[in-house]
Amino acid sequence: MRMTDLIEKKKRGEPLQEEEIRFFVNGFTRGEIPDYQASALLMAICFVGMTAEETADLTDCMAHSGDTLDLSDICGVTADKHSTGGVGDKTTLLVAPICAAAGLKIAKMSGRGLGHTGGTVDKLESIPGFRTALSEAEFKAQINKIGLAVTGQTGELAPADKKIYALRDVTATVNSIPLIASSIMSKKLAAGAQNIVLDVKCGSGAFMQSIDGARALAEQMVEIGKACGRHTAAVLTNMDVPLGTHIGNALEVFEACAVLRGGGSADLREISLILSAHLIAMSQQKPYDTAYRTARELLDNGTAFQKLQEMVAAQGGDARVLECADCFLPAQMQMELCAPQTGYIARMHTQKIGESASLLGAGRAKKTDAIDYAAGIVLQKKTGDFVQKDEPLAVLYASGKEKLQAGKTRFLEALTFSKEKPALQPLCFGTVE
Ligand code: URA
Repeated sequence: MRMTDLIEKKKRGEPLQEEEIRFFVNGFTRGEIPDYQASALLMAICFVGMTAEETADLTDCMAHSGDTLDLSDICGVTADKHSTGGVGDKTTLLVAPICAAAGLKIAKMSGRGLGHTGGTVDKLESIPGFRTALSEAEFKAQINKIGLAVTGQTGELAPADKKIYALRDVTATVNSIPLIASSIMSKKLAAGAQNIVLDVKCGSGAFMQSIDGARALAEQMVEIGKACGRHTAAVLTNMDVPLGTHIGNALEVFEACAVLRGGGSADLREISLILSAHLIAMSQQKPYDTAYRTARELLDNGTAFQKLQEMVAAQGGDARVLECADCFLPAQMQMELCAPQTGYIARMHTQKIGESASLLGAGRAKKTDAIDYAAGIVLQKKTGDFVQKDEPLAVLYASGKEKLQAGKTRFLEALTFSKEKPALQPLCFGTVE
């Protein structure tokens, strides 16, 4: 078999056979296929697309390109959650403890933030002492003991995706539905849970800007999950505005805890309940409404918060900080950012808000950059709010003046004002099951 023939075939619009996809994935992962040939194939896939069968074959090959986690020694029903990435998206910190409190075994491997989106591993590492590098044995033992663990990746899961994703990132080939679907699902399948809920974000802070694109991605991922014998559902959620009010690692842990303790932002609470309800309904085969009521009760009666405290303590973190903001939000320089004009906030370009947080120090431009856990943004106004000129819009936190200035400039670029009140979008655009 020759790569040039595969590239030609895809370029002509013909579907690739399973053995051809396997040849590409294995050869590229082993370093036998050069980047330039892999890039050409990926670009052809971006233009021509893939059939459902090709996407399933690609996912399967990537899922089996390295270690796979066998969760059969976990007592109970295993469940996992994945978000396609957003700004202020701290739902894992709520969904995992709510679902564990409902009796599910949450086996969650999370990633770090890159670019304008945050990552759960970075958020959890803002808690002093918290360990995100659990061994496979520690991960499973903790799930069996307390019902949940959230860790960085154990072992070498889906190494083909790691290599292919790194190449896509620098060859403008990220934006392809079959490539995104296979990339995400290969990691979820390798991570082993029986039940998977996918939060597919849609809007100016997400990979998918349109509802049609987000729905197509959700449909492909759900189809792949089901074809591989996993219960899978996707919820299409709004990322045209940041989720909640806090953006930045420690700030987001603080906001998640506020919701778990009965306060916090209504949108974050509602999206977390919807995702939890889908995961509980699917895993325990209950009607959605019953599962939603269960999730709400476990959130409101404090059981979910106790679960998060248990997880933090089990992973070496100082659980006391979850109840005391001052303990883990060290004093920083801060700047109140005020409205440059009077009017309604018509739009917040959410990617730019995420970039602003990153410039303040909450994210990385390169994988090797250090994170400032206390840096970030607390929003006081969001899309749809009316503001007077010079009224406070947000507080920015950073370690120095230059960073505050860079964050402020990018934040203001994100805003559009209008005289008319904008029509408000729903939090959730539907589900794919
Ligand atoms: N997240 C992934 O893991 N892969 C993609 O291709 C896009 C988002």
